[in-house]
Amino acid sequence: MLTLAIIKPDAMASGKAGKVLAHLESAGFKVRAARLVSLSGPQAEAFYAVHRERPFFHPLVAFMTSGPCLPLALDRDDAVAKLREVIGATDPKEAAPGTVRALYAESKERNAIHASDSPENAGREVGFFFSDLDLG
Ligand code: CMP
Repeated sequence: MLTLAIIKPDAMASGKAGKVLAHLESAGFKVRAARLVSLSGPQAEAFYAVHRERPFFHPLVAFMTSGPCLPLALDRDDAVAKLREVIGATDPKEAAPGTVRALYAESKERNAIHASDSPENAGREVGFFFSDLDLG
């Protein structure tokens, strides 16, 4: 089963992408596709369209377009739930010890990594960045 992760611009800028990826691989995820992208405003708005009405939408789009990020299509059993477990709560102050966000996130806004929140969204989000050709 596939899910989508994005190593966010804060983790890329602070040189933590390798550590985050190693953490995910140690947790049993296989990288099926990866791509370094610099999102445009309209692309970030489209990706986060479900949050359009939320007060954090514009800061979120500004942050996600502030530098390159690394979308990853990740494969393992029960991938969506397991990835959310491994990355921890949105706010690193609330993330369980040893999770990616507890280790590497700066704040609720600059929180190192995104993960799909449901199998339906995982399908949409993997398809947002990757084609069938990329996924092999
Ligand atoms: P992410 O998993 O990428 O999905 C939406 C993002 O919005 C979330 O991670 C956070 O980085 C960001 N965000 C900023 N403020 C909030 C907030 N108050 N509640 C939830 N998400 C927030």
